Amino acid sequence: MLAAHPQWQERARTDETARTWLINETLRLYPPTWLISRMVAQDGIYAGWRLRAGDELVLSPYVSHRDAQVFPDPEEFRPERWNGLHPRINEYFPFGAGARRCVGAELSLARLDHLVREVLQAGTVEGPAPTGMSTTITLVPQNLRLRFRSTKGGLPGQGDQFRPGPGPGLA
Ligand code: HEM
Repeated sequence: MLAAHPQWQERARTDETARTWLINETLRLYPPTWLISRMVAQDGIYAGWRLRAGDELVLSPYVSHRDAQVFPDPEEFRPERWNGLHPRINEYFPFGAGARRCVGAELSLARLDHLVREVLQAGTVEGPAPTGMSTTITLVPQNLRLRFRSTKGGLPGQGDQFRPGPGPGLA
């Protein structure tokens, strides 16, 4: 998403709020966990639906995150939509919800912020959009080829390759 939107590289380089919007928007459009399933434990009426024990429920953040009522022009990558936006947990849940919500959510968000900041402070990212998405267990971009262009003359002996350092507190 960064490679396709150079103007957001500029904004996210120094602006923490821009980075938060950018990460939220990327997780909205491409939630790595695109499918979550549950098995119904006992017969009952749930949200108006009669369900039986053993029925399988499937929730898809990928689908819910494209609800135009909550996210107008849902296919558009628009980080600025997060300005003042507070979707409900059934509208935006890249890390799941409830008792089984991802235990790594806060760590992942902190690491993503750190990674984006480090990469952008060292240069820019370029490259064509991936040709598609593989939907096995997680959503993975296909044929993603990115080029990092250093604005600091590159790291010694590494040309245009970039290796982010350890995150905060993770030596
Ligand atoms: C962007 C990164 C990540 C995403 C999008 C993500 C997403 C999710 C989602 C959607 C669930 C809920 C699955 C369900 O309800 O069936 C989950 C659960 C879980 N995640 Fe993550 N995760 C991420 C990173 C991590 C990391 C870094 C860790 C470990 C440090 C982690 C550990 C876990 C664990 C242990 C659970 C199961 C929690 C439970 O069942 O009580 N995740 N994750």
